[in-house]
Amino acid sequence: MLTSRELTEIEAELTHYEQKRSACIEALKTVQRHRGWVSDESLSDLADFLEMTADELDGVATFYNLIFRKPVGRHVILVCSSVSCWVMGYDQVLQRIGERLGIGLGETTADGRFTLLPNVCLGACDHAPALMIDEDLHGDVDPQKVDEILAGYK
Ligand code: FES
Repeated sequence: MLTSRELTEIEAELTHYEQKRSACIEALKTVQRHRGWVSDESLSDLADFLEMTADELDGVATFYNLIFRKPVGRHVILVCSSVSCWVMGYDQVLQRIGERLGIGLGETTADGRFTLLPNVCLGACDHAPALMIDEDLHGDVDPQKVDEILAGYK
């Protein structure tokens, strides 16, 4: 069931659109902001509220890689694997993250602190290799800098 706070925030978004379904991305983001991810139950409740089928809404949710349909850690690391970052040291950065956290792509640390995911270009090619943690973009990353960056997220 959607909380009253979630509903209030989603209803505020609806004022910008003629149809409820047009606010579906913002609505998904709202649920995820409050719960960390979008479960099947949340998706179904949200679809009912937006007058969509659950399949329609799931199609939107799974199209966007920043809507999480599985539980994630407190912090999500998105490592850019596109060409500029790949050329500039993606492999070494990914290896260092793996060494420090003991996880590979698609995995979450046992303490629930981090989830590590691949991502296409983060738009910071001039500062490759790049990664993003939550909403923070980190550029010119190297293996030594990985330690310093990770330390900033508890
Ligand atoms: S290729 Fe990595 S940020 Fe663009």
